[in-house]
Amino acid sequence: MSSPVATFSFPTPTLFGPRTLGELPARMKLLGIKRPLVVTDAGLLDTDAFRALGRTLGEANRNRRWFLYSGVHPNPIESDVREPAALFQEKHCDGVIAIGGGSALDAGKATRLLVKRPGFDFAKFYDEPDWSDLAPFIAIPTTAGTGSEAGRSSVITLDATKRKAVLFHPELLAKLVILDPELTVGLPPKLTAATGADALTHCIESFTCPAFHPMCDGIALEGIRLIVDALPRAVRDGKDLGARGKMLVAAAMGAVAFQKDLGVVHSLAHPLSTICGMHHGLANALCLVASLKFCAVRKPGLYRRVGIACGLDVMKCSDAEADERTIAFIAEFLASLGLNTKLRDHGVKPEHLDALVAQAWDDPCHKTNAVPVTAADLRELYLTCL
Ligand SMILES: NC(=O)c1ccc[n+]([C@@H]2O[C@H](COP(=O)([O-])OP(=O)(O)OC[C@H]3O[C@@H](n4cnc5c(N)ncnc54)[C@H](O)[C@@H]3O)[C@@H](O)[C@H]2O)c1
Ligand SMILES: [Zn+2]
Repeated sequence: MSSPVATFSFPTPTLFGPRTLGELPARMKLLGIKRPLVVTDAGLLDTDAFRALGRTLGEANRNRRWFLYSGVHPNPIESDVREPAALFQEKHCDGVIAIGGGSALDAGKATRLLVKRPGFDFAKFYDEPDWSDLAPFIAIPTTAGTGSEAGRSSVITLDATKRKAVLFHPELLAKLVILDPELTVGLPPKLTAATGADALTHCIESFTCPAFHPMCDGIALEGIRLIVDALPRAVRDGKDLGARGKMLVAAAMGAVAFQKDLGVVHSLAHPLSTICGMHHGLANALCLVASLKFCAVRKPGLYRRVGIACGLDVMKCSDAEADERTIAFIAEFLASLGLNTKLRDHGVKPEHLDALVAQAWDDPCHKTNAVPVTAADLRELYLTCL
């Protein structure tokens, strides 16, 4: 009889702390990067975070050449990967540095695929076994949410399907992650809240999905504790480096945790981005509470340990009471961050429902949800959040 095999993997070298960006030149040298391509989105160009990177690269070596691709869209599309890959080839670059939120990081991460195989058809990603020897990749997040820097996946909306595809491969991992809280200081409060809600959702969904992964479970619970403590402070005072730092670590922890799996909230959120253009973190935030209630009814007691991680005294409550108090806490927490609006407040209309449900049903995340989900359930959940 064969026993199931669980795979645990936590390998990314990570530098953490204010001004760790200063370590970049020495680390580039170790990685053999002399002509990096910097990948980002246009919104970053006018931030202190980007200016700090420019200074650091400039100071590293007056003769050093570095090149810039700044055309990444929010919720990146194929051209956000094809164009920087072409620039990489044209300028004979030897490594990719992505700076920005999950969009820039995902685009930069996947750029190396097309450097290796120009003209590659993304739809055939999983037919291609050999993704070894990708160009070295350094990830520098300026939001604290997706944790893309710590993950081995890149989320790209494909031309052919207009749906988000999760390109997952261990070779996509960064060779180095720099978590420098000073780089997130300029992130406005609304984006701080929405990206933080993404990290919270990663931790809750990964902890409650049924796969066997006690290491991820522990990381997810500590991530929740950090977020509950630090996110309100980071939203209130963007210059609070302690809170910013905790959020950066918690976001990376969320991504480490969701190598276990995700759940229905992410299946609801992905189509809200591709069809309605909604920010990923906001989409998760607006679908989270209804989804928690949906799961708790079907699996009582599911959120007891989430509640304990939130600081609630629910150890001795009944299953139903533990869930109820935890979900009420999360609902109030999101409301205190201004994340208690409805989907309709963000341009989602009843006529979007059929397309949303069809895409959410095709999305793989709900297949690993804490409890089974039907297409009818997805429709009901959208209606509740609408
Ligand atoms: N790879 C993964 O594991 C993973 C996980 C979750 C989400 N994602 C993907 O990540 C994307 C969302 O990423 P995100 O939530 O970080 O948002 P984002 O990268 O789309 O950025 C949102 C906005 O914030 C701005 N911004 C970023 N940092 C800033 C700063 N320091 N100061 C001022 N403005 C700043 C950007 O210019 C952009 O306009 C989605 O495409 C989502 O699907 C990927
Ligand atoms: Zn997410």
